[in-house]
Amino acid sequence: MGRGAQVFRLDGGNATYAFAVNERGELQTLYWGGRIGERDSLPAAHSNPEAASFDSPYTTTPQEYAGWGAGLFTEPALKVSFADGNRDLVLHFVRASPNGPQSLDVLLKDISREVYVTLRYSIDPDSGILARSAGMENKEKQAITIEQAAAAQWTLPPARYTLSYLTGRWAGEWTLNQEPIIGGARVIESRRGSTGHQANPWFAISRDASPSSAGPIAADEEHGEVWFGALAWSGSWRISVERDQLDSVRVTGGFNPFDFGYKLQPGEKLETPVFYGGYSDHGLGGASRLLHHFEIAHILPQAPDPKLRPVIYNSWEATEFNVDEPSQVALAEKAASIGVDRFVMDDGWFGQRKNDHAGLGDWYVNAEKFPHGLKPLIDKVHALGMDFGLWVEPEMVNPDSDLYRKHPDWVLNFPGRPRSESRNQLVLNLARPDVRDYVEGFLDKLLTENNIAFLKWDYNRNWAEPGWDQVPQDEQKRVYVEFIRNLYSILENLRRKHPKVEIESCSGGGGRVDLGILRYTDEVWPSDNTDPFDRLAMQDGFSYAYTPQIMMAWVTDSPHWGNGRATSLTYRMLSSMQGSLGIGANLNRWSAEDFSTAKRLIAAYHSAQRTIVRGDLFRLISRAMAANFPRLRLFRPTRIKQSFLRSRMPRRKAADFRCCNSQGLTRMLSTSSARSKGRLGQELRRARPVRGGCATASNWNCAETFRQPHSGWIVNARC
Ligand code: GLA
Repeated sequence: MGRGAQVFRLDGGNATYAFAVNERGELQTLYWGGRIGERDSLPAAHSNPEAASFDSPYTTTPQEYAGWGAGLFTEPALKVSFADGNRDLVLHFVRASPNGPQSLDVLLKDISREVYVTLRYSIDPDSGILARSAGMENKEKQAITIEQAAAAQWTLPPARYTLSYLTGRWAGEWTLNQEPIIGGARVIESRRGSTGHQANPWFAISRDASPSSAGPIAADEEHGEVWFGALAWSGSWRISVERDQLDSVRVTGGFNPFDFGYKLQPGEKLETPVFYGGYSDHGLGGASRLLHHFEIAHILPQAPDPKLRPVIYNSWEATEFNVDEPSQVALAEKAASIGVDRFVMDDGWFGQRKNDHAGLGDWYVNAEKFPHGLKPLIDKVHALGMDFGLWVEPEMVNPDSDLYRKHPDWVLNFPGRPRSESRNQLVLNLARPDVRDYVEGFLDKLLTENNIAFLKWDYNRNWAEPGWDQVPQDEQKRVYVEFIRNLYSILENLRRKHPKVEIESCSGGGGRVDLGILRYTDEVWPSDNTDPFDRLAMQDGFSYAYTPQIMMAWVTDSPHWGNGRATSLTYRMLSSMQGSLGIGANLNRWSAEDFSTAKRLIAAYHSAQRTIVRGDLFRLISRAMAANFPRLRLFRPTRIKQSFLRSRMPRRKAADFRCCNSQGLTRMLSTSSARSKGRLGQELRRARPVRGGCATASNWNCAETFRQPHSGWIVNARC
């Protein structure tokens, strides 16, 4: 980090980030890109000129953190209203305080009011990924309301750019979208109180090297400059990517300003989440690899060297709510016989939980299903050589529950208005201290009284009426912040008190995956859609932002419950082996051959796992390359015939694809042990084509399948 004539510079990995104080006192972005020489100096900052009388320097100059005021027409980082009706906020530099060689706090203050903002910067020396956030402090004599607060703003100079971002829906998460960045703004967001399946708080911006504005826009997989970012927040969030009136690109991300209003009393502070940002000159592939290694080294609870995920068995698709001691023991015995490390009992074990109409909130063991409590099952699982995990959904309540009958006021709601149920459940208001304590208390008790190694922490709906009427009217919107802060604090306390317990973040599949929750959770459930063919495309999308280490993938039954597609067990296993492997099939229906196939492949997976989930990940078929194949027109649902090593590309190109895959596999195998090489090699030769195809064209999975451009084997070439 360096500072000269009020120029601040952070260097890490292959990146440099620099900003400075301009002649007007504003903090102005200078540079973000490839690392520049130690001795290279950066020019002092100077504001941009006004653009006619319509755009003043305040709006044409790229600011690090722009307050809304003084005629700012681009997205503000901070918007405040004061008690006297003033809503003008102009932030000027006060001072900078280094916190060691790689981190820096910069204090800004409004030009006349006692509102202070501390911008926090730190850069990872290995990856060059920056962590940025902001803290607001009200030193006025009266309260102020924060109407909008970003964690950070990032600016890129005018150029031709492509934006990549991830969208989806329940059972169809992780679609990679790519589009040119044109004038105006693209907003990706969640207004749901939670991260959401519909968009993920990650973006990547690729610079198009081609000077021609007429050529096709394509984000390059392995070449070219890419800037990327990920917001560490599990509540309502927003990232806006705008190309401004002078063609600069400004990315602003933080709390979603929709329905936001955080009242800060005199002396109070508000901290934003962290917005991480990085730079790669090796295309989107390079950007993903930087993020993967950063997540492993700095984000996950067991960083910098998290344990490889145990191979799990999960009972959900086999038994759904019909869990009891004999049925779970029968599954556990079979799971142990194929080399599973962890047995997880899913929904149905507590309260009066016979289906999804009742029981959430009542976290006592159901005595009809488990007359002697959980201990006999847990002991049996241990005796079989596995550890034991349990499903919980702590933030929810069914109206048909003792908890709701006792505390109907504990749910998010607006009094006198309907309480909208989804999956027959309501959201507990975790922002309330008593609700927070109840949730932490029952989880602590459950983990203290039972030998539990793992929680699958679910969250099966989003918010409807986000009311919190126990606090004054002008403080009720704090719910968007306090709920998530309390969620994080419960997770943090539980991990501290039960350091051996690991946690999976699940929200009806991939509805809560972000760098905020990942500080407290070891893995995530990417989707309720466990069809192995659909998963290939989802896993590909997932890999842009998140490491395969955290990507749990189960092998379930065939034909698949969601789309009727039949696949061989080997195909299902190999698809799931791209991440952290799990088995979710009904083992009571398996043949002897199935058991021996699974046993062989789990052993092969165990020996290759470190390479698969911790190596450098290369996507061998780039989306740009896949786009050259007119695949969508050539296949009808009933004509799908896939093999694991064949994509849905026209025949004339299938040979190229096989070649790429086998090259990749060779690279992967060459880094694995001789044993795993032999095993995996054999299995890949044995992989059977998919039998049959999608059931109907109107099936939701088919729609998803045919929109996804490709699904190649993800190869990890190096540990
Ligand atoms: C959610 C999860 C599933 C399963 C069910 C149980 O849908 O994503 O994996 O745990 O809840 O109700």
